Amino acid sequence: MITFSVIKADIGGFVGHSAMHPDLVSCAQDCLDKARKEGLLVDFHVTYCGDDLELIMTHEQGVDNSRIHKLAWDTFECGTQVARGLKLYGAGQDLLAEGFTGNVKGMGPGVAEMAFEERPSEPVIVFMADKTSAGSWNLPLYKMFADPFNTSGLVFAEQVHDGFRFEVQDIVSHKKIFFDAPEDIYDMLIFMGTPSRYTTKHVFSRSHNEIAAVSSTERLSLVAGKYVGKDDPVCVVRAQNQFPAVGEVLEAFTFPQLVEGWMRGSHRGPLMPVSLKDARPTRFDGPPRVTAAGFQLANGKLIGPVDMFDDPSFDVARQEANQLADLMRRHGPFEPHRLPLEEMEYTTMPRLSKKLANRWEDL
Ligand code: F6R
Ligand code: MG
Ligand code: MG
Repeated sequence: MITFSVIKADIGGFVGHSAMHPDLVSCAQDCLDKARKEGLLVDFHVTYCGDDLELIMTHEQGVDNSRIHKLAWDTFECGTQVARGLKLYGAGQDLLAEGFTGNVKGMGPGVAEMAFEERPSEPVIVFMADKTSAGSWNLPLYKMFADPFNTSGLVFAEQVHDGFRFEVQDIVSHKKIFFDAPEDIYDMLIFMGTPSRYTTKHVFSRSHNEIAAVSSTERLSLVAGKYVGKDDPVCVVRAQNQFPAVGEVLEAFTFPQLVEGWMRGSHRGPLMPVSLKDARPTRFDGPPRVTAAGFQLANGKLIGPVDMFDDPSFDVARQEANQLADLMRRHGPFEPHRLPLEEMEYTTMPRLSKKLANRWEDL
């Protein structure tokens, strides 16, 4: 069994919340290289999406392993020192707890991990998003694994024709439910369609009973109880044979869906698929974006990455995203660009309500 772990955190932005300083990447590379030499990791790749540092790791320790989580935590703490030295923006932002207690879940960083037997050939795609929240994977995961208009294999490829099982989590009441696609899709969509509360944690192949996808569903606002930044989630997807083909997986991102996030985590905007080098959200701190790093695994070694959205066939999606961004921006502080009040994480409402309390008159 090989374990594929992606653990990510915003430990300081360069400039503002827009991108990553190269010293943070090299600091993380040094930490993980040491762990690889010591035999804890089989392999690793460090990258970033916007202001989020992404540790992509393979190992044989299984998911939720305290040594791997400690390695990630220590790496983020080490990077935070570098960020503080450079006075990068929001240094240590996502390290919400004081010290490590055995598992980084609920402590600020985002985590997506899966363990599986490596197939004779194992294509894996790591999706990374910035300026958006954990539920943003609901729509693309639905398209990849349940929508025959996206994934034609669901109709005529024997290996995927039996459909997929979705694990949907209610991140408010901390419950989970399993839905089988296709027969449960109408029930499933009422929940998946509310991504601010319901997020897709895992997807499984029904015919092979194997893990197909995993996402990070940590919601920082729920973890911290106040606004500390958006989740900027990650999602790992296996492709080909008993899973959708690489192209079917990527096809789900040709639609620049409107997601929560963007400026101050308080707006809706299009999720723009971009190349790794364009993962620098600058316009109005956005618009939200997603990158895709493709790997082949070879006995746990990460062969890659290939920058999967660095392809002119995603230009139209990017253009549409820019047009949508313009349209949304023109709403200024009005809904639906601005989130509804109950979703606002940056709200001054409590203070305002208090201030205006005795100016409200009965109708
Ligand atoms: C959104 C984000 C940014 C900040 C904004 C204000 O996820 O990170 O849009 O919310 O730049 O940042 P602060 O409050 O740090 O000045
Ligand atoms: Mg930031
Ligand atoms: Mg970020």
